[in-house]
Amino acid sequence: MDPLAVGALLSDPAAWSITHVTRTGSTNADLAASRAPHGRVLIAEEQMTGRGRSGRDWFCPEGAGLMFSVVLRIPQIPADRRGWVGAVLGLAIVRAFDRIGAAGADLKWPNDVLISGRKCAGILGEVADDALIVGAGINVSLQATELPRQDATSLLLSGGSDRLDREALLAAILDEFGVLLNRWSGAKGDIDRSGLRSDYLTSCSTIGSRVRLILPGGRQHLATAVDVGPDGALVVEDAEGRRSYSAADVVHLRPDR
Ligand code: BTN
Repeated sequence: MDPLAVGALLSDPAAWSITHVTRTGSTNADLAASRAPHGRVLIAEEQMTGRGRSGRDWFCPEGAGLMFSVVLRIPQIPADRRGWVGAVLGLAIVRAFDRIGAAGADLKWPNDVLISGRKCAGILGEVADDALIVGAGINVSLQATELPRQDATSLLLSGGSDRLDREALLAAILDEFGVLLNRWSGAKGDIDRSGLRSDYLTSCSTIGSRVRLILPGGRQHLATAVDVGPDGALVVEDAEGRRSYSAADVVHLRPDR
């Protein structure tokens, strides 16, 4: 993976400074410790202690994924509105998949990227002092035996070898992310005024589906997902009415088939 080649494909090369390492612990952790400026991107071919959401880990064989993190310093977005950053990157990835020919991707609340119902990418947003660090792990050329779980997929498995140019993919993601970030910061982080909540809801296949929420302690709630509120919480409805769950309240979200 050549960071200069990614830079050459960007619509706005000045917006991002792209760095690359062969191996590290976690690109999110590295950038969180770095005090790097807004727009720094770190790509790794392999992570030894890759972090996933809810304290889980993230593993991908060397060179088979696109794993990167970005530093954002956006003072226009108040701290209590920054929780949407993972969803905004997720939306950028869905749009970038479309651009590289992997059409039909969508989002599972809060920010998994699915292709045909299978997880192809995960996103982790974290706060580091006044910076936001957001990272994505995308399964690019993993074979079926290399997938971390049965309900996962890769760009290769979901459609073939025409979509495996990681440099073009990262450039498309950063282009899309830059456009969405401008809208978001232009609206001072207001997810509705920026139009981003509405775009997110359009791309989120969780909405309208029957879900099984696995909650802390093993409790479960079966309901229909009906909305994602301005606070990012999933709103579900059952015979007893509506209730909201924040991402931190939910251990797993599964389809209820
Ligand atoms: C998830 O649990 O779905 C989120 C996975 C996020 C993984 C990416 S890989 C690049 C970045 N660095 C990390 O340690 N994690 C994120």
